[in-house]
Amino acid sequence: MIPITRGHIDLTVTINDLESLKFDKYFQTYQQLPEVEQYYTAHNSSIWQLLDDCPQWVHDLSQQIPKDFDHSVVSAIKIPPGQTVPCHADKHYILQQTYGAGDTWRYLIFLEDWKNGHYFEIGGQPIVNWKAGDWVKFHRSCWHLGGNMGLKPFYSAQVTVK
Ligand SMILES: [Fe+2]
Repeated sequence: MIPITRGHIDLTVTINDLESLKFDKYFQTYQQLPEVEQYYTAHNSSIWQLLDDCPQWVHDLSQQIPKDFDHSVVSAIKIPPGQTVPCHADKHYILQQTYGAGDTWRYLIFLEDWKNGHYFEIGGQPIVNWKAGDWVKFHRSCWHLGGNMGLKPFYSAQVTVK
């Protein structure tokens, strides 16, 4: 099994920074399994993403994580309360298209301390109780899921690397 690694960076992100993110794309998440097609719809599995025009502090995250890559693409995600990201494996489409196919990895960085109802799971392991700045790094072949059964948006950043 390809290892999943975890670590922490110090963040100075404020709630104002998060609420100022200009998310521009709202879309239904991957449908890669029959059960996902059966049970999940645009109504219960849609999220906000900010890819282009991320503020500088999002780009700077790629300088703070371990320097184990040559190329990176950053984005920010907001999962509103009530939305889920059912089991999937990421395509890393933009990174692969820009810098070529092959092994690519993603750093998922939690931007706030864990809140009630926020959930992430990878390799069959639940991840909760995180602190702002905690990260999880995983290969594009790793199945994972997330969701927000809480009362506040769930913010994360992704640095996809090769
Ligand atoms: Fe994902």
